[in-house]
Amino acid sequence: MNSQKIERTLVLVKPDGVRRSLVGEVVSRIETKGYVVVGLKMITPTREILEKHYAEHAGKPFYEPLLEFMLSGPIVAMIAEGNRVIEGFRKLAGTTDPTTAEPGTIRGDLARDQGTKVVQNIVHGSDSPESAAREIAIFFPELS
Ligand code: RTP
Ligand code: MG
Repeated sequence: MNSQKIERTLVLVKPDGVRRSLVGEVVSRIETKGYVVVGLKMITPTREILEKHYAEHAGKPFYEPLLEFMLSGPIVAMIAEGNRVIEGFRKLAGTTDPTTAEPGTIRGDLARDQGTKVVQNIVHGSDSPESAAREIAIFFPELS
């Protein structure tokens, strides 16, 4: 455990989270864990931005439904900062499938299978330092 490893991660509250007024709940879980929100904005993303963000998933069966879902309403983008926040926020979020995500996590507590083409799971969190840098540059170009 390296106490010097201050990181930043990109968190998105996806359209389902914004529609259900869960922005404050997500921010609260990040802040009560002890991370600091150092950037935050609500945006209506373009397809172009989402294609960049989800480039790794291009061609997968859930790719088009995923873009359609992410275009279905405004999202909130934020940067959370703290030691090992990338790993820490992924733990707070829980696993991708909300049905089996652990209770106590954002997805485990706040989401369930809605029978939609793509799983709707409230939040996105960067999965590595490289992803975090890439994704922060997409959603917060003014910071880079
Ligand atoms: P995220 O990137 O949103 O934080 O989620 P993740 O790492 O847990 O999941 P990832 O594999 O990166 O997938 C991105 C998002 O695509 C949707 N998805 N649906 N089989 C499916 O229906 C499926 N697989 C992925 C989810 O919205 C997932 O969060
Ligand atoms: Mg991912």
